[in-house]
Amino acid sequence: MQGITESAVDEYLLSILPPRDSVLQEMEAQAAKRDIPIVGPAVGRVLFQYARLINAKKVFELGSAIGYSTLWFARAVGEDGEVFYTDGDPKNADEASGYFRRAGVAERIHIGVGDALEQLTQRQREFDIIFNDVDKEYYPRVLDLAPNHLRRGGLFITDNVLWSGRVTEQNAKDKDTRAIQEFNQRLYAMKDFFTTILPLRDGLAVAVKA
Ligand SMILES: C[S@@+](CC[C@H](N)C(=O)[O-])C[C@H]1O[C@@H](n2cnc3c(N)ncnc32)[C@H](O)[C@@H]1O
Repeated sequence: MQGITESAVDEYLLSILPPRDSVLQEMEAQAAKRDIPIVGPAVGRVLFQYARLINAKKVFELGSAIGYSTLWFARAVGEDGEVFYTDGDPKNADEASGYFRRAGVAERIHIGVGDALEQLTQRQREFDIIFNDVDKEYYPRVLDLAPNHLRRGGLFITDNVLWSGRVTEQNAKDKDTRAIQEFNQRLYAMKDFFTTILPLRDGLAVAVKA
């Protein structure tokens, strides 16, 4: 995907990152080879850092693919934490569970196959972090749902909120772009959340619940 920052700046930001362990490296290589849209290492570090900042122990992910962002969260929550992986594709879940085993974090991850929004609906208000990375057309629906499942002081984090810059289009025709525009506008207007967008990679919205 085309970054939203200058490509030289993107390359610099990636070049200064410390090397990842062999499991994350293999996931990154697979994602590059098969064009799987993972958050990548710069955003992975942000997810880890925010989880540590609020001492998160329970994380729910909507849209986990091969489990790359899940693995960053799983390491951040530690041995006594839990991460809920969700994806609609059982093949992704199989592949992800192999990586989780190899990384030694399988016990702290619950794997759920099927619609991520439905799976979240069935949970209580209990999460320290909800991470949203499903298909973009669902973003407004995720916004109706996710806040009710977060504790106070919890974080609602969403990827791709700048959508390669397409969010700047007036009267956008594409449904994904329109969904993200609506999502961003509504999220900033929510009285019980304080939101910022980090213009890193494809844009990451971080909203803290009052
Ligand atoms: C952008 S990828 C997730 C990448 C992952 N968060 C990472 O950074 O490693 C989006 C994934 O969400 C899944 N997905 C999209 N909409 C979904 C839905 N409504 N329920 C469950 N999974 C969904 C797709 O199958 C895809 O694997």
